[in-house]
Amino acid sequence: MATASDLLREAIDEPGLYLDQPTDTAAYAIDWTGKFAGTTPLVVRPRNTETVSRVLAACDRHGLAVVPQGGNTGIVGGSVPHQGEVVISLSRMNAIEAFDAASATATVQAGVVLQALQEHLAERDHEFAVDLAARGSCQIGGMIATNAGGIKVLRYGHMREQVRGLEVVLADGTVLRNLNRLKKNNTGLDLKQLFIGSEGILGVITRAVVQVQPRAPARQTALIGLADRAKLPALLQACRERFRGLSSLEFVVRDAIDLVREVEPETREPFGAIYQVYVIIEEETPAGAAAREGFVAALAALAEVELVADAIVAASERQARAVWRLREGPTELIGRLGLTHKFDVTVPPGAIPPFLTAMERLGEAMTGFRPLLYGHLGDGNVHVNMMQRPGLAEAAFHQAGPALAARIYGLVAEHEGSISAEHGIGVMKRDYLHLSRTAEEIALMRRLKATLDPNGILNPGVIFTA
Ligand code: FAD
Ligand code: MLT
Ligand code: ZN
Repeated sequence: MATASDLLREAIDEPGLYLDQPTDTAAYAIDWTGKFAGTTPLVVRPRNTETVSRVLAACDRHGLAVVPQGGNTGIVGGSVPHQGEVVISLSRMNAIEAFDAASATATVQAGVVLQALQEHLAERDHEFAVDLAARGSCQIGGMIATNAGGIKVLRYGHMREQVRGLEVVLADGTVLRNLNRLKKNNTGLDLKQLFIGSEGILGVITRAVVQVQPRAPARQTALIGLADRAKLPALLQACRERFRGLSSLEFVVRDAIDLVREVEPETREPFGAIYQVYVIIEEETPAGAAAREGFVAALAALAEVELVADAIVAASERQARAVWRLREGPTELIGRLGLTHKFDVTVPPGAIPPFLTAMERLGEAMTGFRPLLYGHLGDGNVHVNMMQRPGLAEAAFHQAGPALAARIYGLVAEHEGSISAEHGIGVMKRDYLHLSRTAEEIALMRRLKATLDPNGILNPGVIFTA
């Protein structure tokens, strides 16, 4: 019987296009969290859209299922082959094709790594509005496919708000090209929206036009300590009112700071006292002393109404990075230290304090788990991490997943929140999609999938069961 490799090589062969040795393909078959793993007979690494089109057409003809893969930093298990699918890696489509200051856009291939785009734009005094801790690995195509959020959503929105044009290859190899640079282009159905956040089930994104902006003249960064997290909703509201250029508002519950200090002992205790919760406030401001004084004065005003117990204002880029390490460190370390059930949810701001308490109680009630909580306060986005403690067997860790999910998502639904704030559904949350979307919506999603991918070859099992 012909293998996937035989069938594809017969349709198209180029030097270096395929990897089929297990030692080469293994890294493409396991995700960043180490929680989702499978196998693949073949990894395809195209360099251009035409090759993607020919590969997909051949896969469709032969009924070969495929998983599009970007930087493989996704957290919900959507980027790995669970059932022996062929992986299409976009990593070699990594050209930044154009930068157009007048229209404020960049045209990129899907495999451009976020940090590479950031560096390219910085050299041209511009920046990209979406930023996240996976910047060194995640790709623009993957970020579009997951509609990634990150640390500046409250000012600039998600990936969806950054995309002006897209090129997508459909399951049968059809290339849908609309590399629109215009800000205004109101010409019928905005088809690109279908693919943003579609997690690879409707097409493979190959190129994109994204918005960029002139670099902010200055950035003010502060870390604040809060003794009582019941004040978080009031702090959120006050920050929106007081900091006109507010670009990030992030929170970290104390236990996550402890984790950073355990693993990176050189990390200094930020304040003389220990606080229940820590918040990073970042504002984009004009350059100069007056803007900085305004920032400090706004913090002082928050302290007067007891919304700030302690504060450090970063005096240099290095200090700002140290502040951000307290927020990004836990994310990275959790991934390195072992297995973690990660839940990414939104609840209304007023519900954040009781929700955090409920999560801590849940963690305490579940033997063998260490709850670590942090997130994007400005968006009501809480990241609940239930980390495997040493001694908890792997089987017991996995077994606890559904019970944790049922409790957490149940509570989220009670608050009319969302079971996925920014990471998507993947395979991890597909059984819970009905908690955030109606039956009619899910039925329409399935009809769209059947129309665009009638043979069901694209990422089967992602978002909903095949
Ligand atoms: P992958 O993981 O490779 O793929 C993700 C999904 O998109 C899969 O379903 C895949 O099939 C599909 N896909 C990938 N590329 C394409 C393509 N070209 N065409 C079609 N489908 C494709 N997310 C946030 O939203 N906010 C955060 O703050 C954040 N922080 C993170 C921090 C860390 C340290 C890590 C590891 C992850 C973080 N994430 C965050 C997760 C986030 O989803 C990813 O980082 C990113 O959006 C995925 O990009 P990727 O290229 O790695 O995609
Ligand atoms: C974050 O904001 O740190 C990420 O979305 C990843 C995580 O949930 O750990
Ligand atoms: Zn996040």
